Amino acid sequence: MIHDYFHPLSTDIFLTAFMRCGTTWLRALMFATANRHLYKFSDHPIHHTGPHAIFPSLDSKILLEYPVSTFDRLPSPRLFATHFAHSLFPISMTSPLSACKFVYVCRDPKDVLISKWHFMCKIRSEELTPISFNEAYELFCNGVSEFGPYWDHVLEYWKASQESPEKVLFLKYEDIKREPSVELKKLAAFMGMPFTAEEEKGGVVEEIVKLCSFENLSNLEVHKEGGGVQTFTQLVVEYKNYFRKGTVGDWKNYLTEEMRERIDSITEAKFKGSGLTL
Ligand code: A3P
Repeated sequence: MIHDYFHPLSTDIFLTAFMRCGTTWLRALMFATANRHLYKFSDHPIHHTGPHAIFPSLDSKILLEYPVSTFDRLPSPRLFATHFAHSLFPISMTSPLSACKFVYVCRDPKDVLISKWHFMCKIRSEELTPISFNEAYELFCNGVSEFGPYWDHVLEYWKASQESPEKVLFLKYEDIKREPSVELKKLAAFMGMPFTAEEEKGGVVEEIVKLCSFENLSNLEVHKEGGGVQTFTQLVVEYKNYFRKGTVGDWKNYLTEEMRERIDSITEAKFKGSGLTL
């Protein structure tokens, strides 16, 4: 469907990730970076709407509203979030010859599993039998996930980023947690909007990091009021479900040593020879 109904522009930037890897956070960081000359941080649209309303999801728009004429009205660069695998995009978008860009964020699969399980439990219809953690763990390890196996999803984008670093930026949730300003500068430069020395001196980088922090976003009134995001399955997911702990290593509270070892060994085997370590 994307091949028929979406017409990419050379200036488009796609935020891509497997689910629960930090899309909400990156949405805010990318929007605030791209539009930093338009708004004051004290009265920023993110404070009023949150990051989802201002940064469309390509997946749900394409699948629910095609042909999507509203895309034509978006300011340049158009920013879109998607969980689609790299191989699902048309060559016209992924070829190094096309100018649109991809920002990919990945996360430790053990934390992804925990985050995803909590999320699925919250959004699952009450009419369905609840999904046990052991069941979710088995499905995840066996590669049964909404957007395909976690490891293949990551590897496709990793390889693309190695082949065309100017086209695909590969980020890690843990790195952004550890050094948000460093990673944000990398992101801005990749987007073609590097921070000037004056902006850095004026604290713009830190302002964006603060605006987009878990503490700020998760406490926004709009996220507590009950609005939500329409997913491609027509389900509306309440904003509050996009914020849980926002930490690194929560898996330690859930996984047995045997479970940790199994996930780590799948990761090691899948990523062997790729140069990617998590
Ligand atoms: P946890 O469930 O581990 O807390 P996504 O946005 O891709 O669905 O990812 C959701 C995960 O990112 C959740 O992880 C959520 O809490 C975390 N998250 C949301 N906003 C964040 C932010 N500003 N900073 C760090 N983590 C954030």
